[in-house]
Amino acid sequence: MKVFINKNIPEVGIKLLQDKGISSTINPTENVSSREKFIKICQEHDALLNVGTNNLDEDFFQQCPHLKGIALFSVGFDSVHIPSANSRKIPVGNTPDVLSRATSDVAFLLMQSVARKSFFNHKRILNDDWGSFDPLANLGQELYGKTLGIFGLGRIGFEMAKKCKAAFGMNIIYHNRSHNETAEKELDAKYVDFETLLSQSDVLSVHSNYTEENNEIFNKNAFAKMKSNAIFINTARGKFQNEKDLFEALTNNIIWGAGLDVTNPEPMKSDNPLLSLPNCCILPHIGSATYEARNAMAICAAQNIIALFEDKKMPFCVNE
Ligand code: DGY
Repeated sequence: MKVFINKNIPEVGIKLLQDKGISSTINPTENVSSREKFIKICQEHDALLNVGTNNLDEDFFQQCPHLKGIALFSVGFDSVHIPSANSRKIPVGNTPDVLSRATSDVAFLLMQSVARKSFFNHKRILNDDWGSFDPLANLGQELYGKTLGIFGLGRIGFEMAKKCKAAFGMNIIYHNRSHNETAEKELDAKYVDFETLLSQSDVLSVHSNYTEENNEIFNKNAFAKMKSNAIFINTARGKFQNEKDLFEALTNNIIWGAGLDVTNPEPMKSDNPLLSLPNCCILPHIGSATYEARNAMAICAAQNIIALFEDKKMPFCVNE
């Protein structure tokens, strides 16, 4: 039994596999150069530990029906066509919980960066434009007592809400597929419909799992319903936002600003017009990029693979 690991992962995960005598092929380079090559290597292995956003679509499953299972090195599983995995009884595992704090830290960081225009002000120094103290220039907004709207209140959204409540006493509203009773009890979070989320949030932060039905749900119509002081934050998936509409909303002061750790598409090119805006802060999908989170993700992914090889249920399976 052999597992293909398509990009190097923290040593702690590799070691767990080795300790169980599981042999692996690790592709240490940036990525397997082509999809054909990737599929060919998968065909030579019994399981895949997948890092990144390789599209594991219907065609992939048709070509790799023999796989005993797939362990993702991510919490998001939008890159996998789950019905195709299900029809072949291929379990798919993810890495839940362990990156919730790290990812919500980045949402929190972006929220403050936008509120205080920090990226823009940093660029002023680089452009030799510090200038003299001006009481009317570079003003941001404070977040104390404002309303945080969470789109998708799962584990990461909960961590974001918890921080915002503790740091700024923010009121929490959220829109979700179902009620989050813990958040309602512990954070006094209020469930609202999508329209209310748009119209009442001072900060609207996206933390949902991406599905096709929510593709570009944050578009011209949505931005038009938001407050003019609103800050849009997305650390989940770029496909939630229409970036042309976001650019219009930001340049016409329909909303105050945006902070993105995810873009549509990724990677973003350096000439993207959003990068030139003073009210937009963009990071290159670093939500889970801490030593702590990545080590823990490696452990979860290895545990999923080990379970497969021991003919047990994956501990973090998304398609039971
Ligand atoms: C995740 O875990 O889903 C992160 O976004 C990395 O892809």
